[in-house]
Amino acid sequence: MRNAIEALSRGLAVLVAVLGVAGCGDAPPAERSDERTIVFKHFRLFGDPAPFAALLREFEARHPGIRVRAETLPAASDEQHQFYVINLRGGSRDFDVLALDVIWVAEFARAGWIADVTGLLPDNEALFAASLEAVTYEGRHYAVPWFVDAGLLYYRKDLLELHGFSAPRTWSELAEAARTIAAREPGVHGFVWQGRQYEGLVCNALEMIWSAGGEVLDGERVVLESPETLRALEFLQSLVAQGVSPAIVTTATEEPSRHVFGSGRAVFLRNWPYAWTLFERPDSPIRGKVGVAPLPHFEGHESASALGGWNLGINARSRHPDEAAAFVRFMTSPEAQRALSLAYGYNPSLRALYADPELLAAQPHLEALRDALDAARSRPVTPRYAQLSQVLQSEFSAVVTGLKRPAGALADAQREIERIMAEP
Ligand code: GLC
Repeated sequence: MRNAIEALSRGLAVLVAVLGVAGCGDAPPAERSDERTIVFKHFRLFGDPAPFAALLREFEARHPGIRVRAETLPAASDEQHQFYVINLRGGSRDFDVLALDVIWVAEFARAGWIADVTGLLPDNEALFAASLEAVTYEGRHYAVPWFVDAGLLYYRKDLLELHGFSAPRTWSELAEAARTIAAREPGVHGFVWQGRQYEGLVCNALEMIWSAGGEVLDGERVVLESPETLRALEFLQSLVAQGVSPAIVTTATEEPSRHVFGSGRAVFLRNWPYAWTLFERPDSPIRGKVGVAPLPHFEGHESASALGGWNLGINARSRHPDEAAAFVRFMTSPEAQRALSLAYGYNPSLRALYADPELLAAQPHLEALRDALDAARSRPVTPRYAQLSQVLQSEFSAVVTGLKRPAGALADAQREIERIMAEP
């Protein structure tokens, strides 16, 4: 299967090279001789596009002669990854700056697709340890942390209080509260999360595995198959099988799960920090009713959030590397990060901003979030991450949908990942 996918993407890369196009197809408009246009590829932002556009115009105003054209990609990380692999492998120069998921940097750096941007990074202490780790490959930095994500538990304060529960600390407390409240509140589900076969499922499952004391790798050694991981996957399967989570979680990504909770139809939600801003919008039916807490853990273990987030990198073949560097410096500045956080709830990669009074007023949970981010765990940082994730996605999905028993899925994942790690 993997060979078939690789062959297919090689074929597409050839096609792209032959046609001389990079996905979007438009020929760039002619530049005036005194003007350079850089193309910024990024995922689609949720919410009002105006503050983001204003930032781009501000950059242009401060850098006469440089124009920025922003081009969007689909929201799902996996789809963006596919676009970049095809185009960068084909040697595309049609974009200069790209937003990279934290899990891609090692792979792209190893392939030589993104430039060394070590000089653009702020002091190491200014950043979260895990996000610094995510942009480092063989001692150099290949992207600048832009904003950071950590998995959080959202809960309905009003419903918990009404039914005599407090925010759950363990997974069994969560299951108990979810089951009880959903049974008493018609039309309200228990716990929603992201269970579709995609990268988000890996984040959800790893958080559960880590919070049971399990691991994927210990250095280069694969240690997935363990009683701790089994306990976590059995719990994950039981959530759907026993109706604590509705069947729709098995096909849900971030946005559908946010909509279920956001329309008042669930007690608990696992999601990233961006959801907060949307729940607190004036037209939100659950405005003022939402609490945020660290994810639960299994008895005797500690909570674990997956570190997510996006970094800005420069296409190694960019025709305008200096202009691209100026743009990355601007977009990752405290000023731009504050604006993005206020408008979209994207949490700054700069730790100092977590004490910023304006940001704290808008997002009261920010200080607690800094602690969660300080402790957030990276998914395995390896150039083979994409391959490894493919295996986890399909095995975890088989568990969630009940197609496979957790022990069998674990054994298969262990064997497959050992094979991947042993490849030269
Ligand atoms: C968020 C995270 C990213 C993660 C993705 C999974 O976008 O920032 O790191 O891979 O969700 O769906």
